[in-house]
Amino acid sequence: MTEPTTHPVTHGDWLDLARTLPPACIDLFYTDPPFNTGQPQTGRAGAYPDAWPTTADWIAWLRERIIATLPALKPTASILLHIDWRTSHHARLLLDDLLGPDRFVNHLIWSYGLGGSSPRRFARKHDDILFYCLEPDRYYFKPPKVPATSRRMRGQLKKATDVLDIPTLNNMAAERTGYPTQKPLALLELLINACCPPGGTVLDPCCGSGTTLVAARRLARTPIGADINPDAVAISRARLDAAPPTP
Ligand SMILES: C[S@@+](CC[C@H](N)C(=O)[O-])C[C@H]1O[C@@H](n2cnc3c(N)ncnc32)[C@H](O)[C@@H]1O
Repeated sequence: MTEPTTHPVTHGDWLDLARTLPPACIDLFYTDPPFNTGQPQTGRAGAYPDAWPTTADWIAWLRERIIATLPALKPTASILLHIDWRTSHHARLLLDDLLGPDRFVNHLIWSYGLGGSSPRRFARKHDDILFYCLEPDRYYFKPPKVPATSRRMRGQLKKATDVLDIPTLNNMAAERTGYPTQKPLALLELLINACCPPGGTVLDPCCGSGTTLVAARRLARTPIGADINPDAVAISRARLDAAPPTP
């Protein structure tokens, strides 16, 4: 059950938070839910279960929560759903079904580099972020700029493509909290700058260590988050309380 709190990070189920949100208040709905890896995710500062009996059960879990969240989105809002190779094809069909295939904007690839390899297949080195809008003519988008890599444009910026080359957190990274599957602030800052208008509101109802919420606050957007795991909520609240306040 969701606790009543005035803090932007609520302890509870995404579903409970979604049902308490006022209509049409969210500009950007990003979430990075459990990927259904079949294994618990564990780290120095927490752990969470990550297994559903079947992919259909995971999709049903996600469907119910996305449906409950949609009324809270502004007509100009965007949705960014962060998943991986296990479920991205199922999640795309789910979003096509809920929103319409014409609401699809991008299939972003977060290419992170680090990790192992296999002698039996190409190394899996990316996550998938599905970008949908509610109204194709009205959603906010400011094309992000990234450093150019070609020799001709060296030292200049160019518009980002749908492949985002951003390193994952290494063990020595100052922002690392020890919570499992923590995403880098650089990724979330790029996404929020691109997809949430200045001063807008960002929702992450599976916030984990609070990366989305911290990035939102640093960029002077209003963060709203939840997590069902009390360790995640404690870490998110501490990070958010230490983040520079919105001017
Ligand atoms: C992939 S992690 C999020 C990591 C986060 N993006 C970060 O940078 O730290 C997924 C999170 O979803 C949470 N979660 C799982 N089921 C949930 C639910 N029903 N409602 C809210 N949070 C949930 C887990 O506790 C976990 O912290």
